[in-house]
Amino acid sequence: MYSNKYNRVTKLNRCELKIFDKTDSNPTYGELEKSGFMQLTCHIPNNLKSFCDLGSGIGVVVKYIADLTKLFTTIHGVELSEERYNVSLNLIRTIKNKSRKKQVKIFHDNILLFNISNYDVLYISNLCFNHGFNKRLASKLNKECKQNCIIFASQDLIIERNHIKKQFPVHQSWGKNTQMFKYELII
Ligand SMILES: C[S@@+](CC[C@H](N)C(=O)[O-])C[C@H]1O[C@@H](n2cnc3c(N)ncnc32)[C@H](O)[C@@H]1O
Repeated sequence: MYSNKYNRVTKLNRCELKIFDKTDSNPTYGELEKSGFMQLTCHIPNNLKSFCDLGSGIGVVVKYIADLTKLFTTIHGVELSEERYNVSLNLIRTIKNKSRKKQVKIFHDNILLFNISNYDVLYISNLCFNHGFNKRLASKLNKECKQNCIIFASQDLIIERNHIKKQFPVHQSWGKNTQMFKYELII
């Protein structure tokens, strides 16, 4: 949807690509469909306070949470691409409810360096992330996630902490009913 509208976000400039290369990050863009978001919300308990989309693209997931739900009081995203980060700042400006808008923040950062220890729910669209990157990401999650954190990921991750794992389908821009993994940490 947005990726067609903002065609440039799918193709990054040379300078950005260098940064992705240097950090072993994958620049592929794709996004959660609105219908996919509705599928995701069925798996999110409604008593949790904080959410972060690690690799937030142009911010559609944070915008959906703010506009379409009453979930969370902290709604964050982290994006490595400056271009996508800037588009996401414009997108979150369109959130109509003022108090909801104040709960949303996007950071221009590398998710491997970002502090993830305070979030109740992490969402990671990591299907295209490089193998080595996913391994480092899993190791960070194992070390730093808050107790009872819920992690959603589009590619299976090696979670070593005690957890309950589930799988369910979601509509993504690259395909209907694609796999989503849910890891509910027990400690
Ligand atoms: C498949 S897109 C998902 C976008 C959004 N989360 C969604 O589901 O609609 C993955 C995003 O992760 C970003 N990304 C990749 N490596 C990253 C890193 N090391 N730090 C932060 N963002 C990263 C990419 O630029 C891209 O925007």
